[in-house]
Amino acid sequence: MDLGIKGETALVVGASEGIGYESARGLLEEGAEVLICSRNAGKIERAARRLEQACGRKVRWFAADITRAEDVGRLGGWLAREIAALDILVTAVGGSQRASFEELDDAAWMANYEFNVLGTVRVIRETLPLLRKSATGRIVILGAAGARMPYENQVVSNVHKAGLIALVKTLGAEFQKYNIRVNSVSPGRTLTALWTTRAEKLSKERGVTPEAIIEEFSREIPMKRMGRPEEIAAMVVFLASHKASYVTCQSILVDGGIARGLI
Ligand SMILES: NC(=O)c1ccc[n+]([C@@H]2O[C@H](COP(=O)([O-])OP(=O)(O)OC[C@H]3O[C@@H](n4cnc5c(N)ncnc54)[C@H](OP(=O)(O)O)[C@@H]3O)[C@@H](O)[C@H]2O)c1
Repeated sequence: MDLGIKGETALVVGASEGIGYESARGLLEEGAEVLICSRNAGKIERAARRLEQACGRKVRWFAADITRAEDVGRLGGWLAREIAALDILVTAVGGSQRASFEELDDAAWMANYEFNVLGTVRVIRETLPLLRKSATGRIVILGAAGARMPYENQVVSNVHKAGLIALVKTLGAEFQKYNIRVNSVSPGRTLTALWTTRAEKLSKERGVTPEAIIEEFSREIPMKRMGRPEEIAAMVVFLASHKASYVTCQSILVDGGIARGLI
């Protein structure tokens, strides 16, 4: 299937590893010109080199911490020098934070808000002038299944990821006047560094293998396995493509069936 994005320009933020990296790879494989960004300069440069080797095309990179407004401003300045218009923006920065309500003070709430919501808001604000120059701009934001099925002891990220769904639904309507579609992909448990690090830590504490811990994490998932980053990225690429031309304001679960609410 031709997704129709050959030659289009895409920016993936949070692309040095995990779902963001696989999204960048998927967009490249479909023929898009991909620029990537994440916080750590060494990591994002290495990711660009790996992508270039895998796809045989140049990948431009920029290091910016999106929890810092000045970094996002620098990212905007770099993009304005590099490209004339932006067709696709993917934001893949964020994560769950394990802590009970009673452990969280204002500073913890604000830090997680910047990580999961405000950083993405800043990136959208900074790239909007370039997205408006595209005939059909598309924004895809990584949310989380946890926003649709909140777990205890993850209150701060549950609340903020739910806020992202509201952001998507609001901006999808507001930006229609610019012909920009806005959607999000909500992953369930996906095997990225987040989970492998946790499995290794728990395996040492309990004296079992990391594989046994991953199997334990997988038990309540109807498909009985965790997702692979490329399985989440496939939905990101589809939503970013012209095959999803009538889809906006949506938050699509890709979670092996773990979040099963009726609404
Ligand atoms: N994995 C899961 O099970 C899961 C489940 C639900 C939702 N999600 C969501 O999916 C998205 C991607 O998750 P993932 O598991 O692929 O994450 P990951 O493997 O931890 O990768 C995160 C990426 O974001 C970059 N990053 C982190 N903080 C940043 C910052 N402040 N500014 C700029 N870049 C930053 C990291 O690179 P640097 O280290 O170079 O900064 C890395 O490239 C997140 O929004 C996450 O909440 C994941």
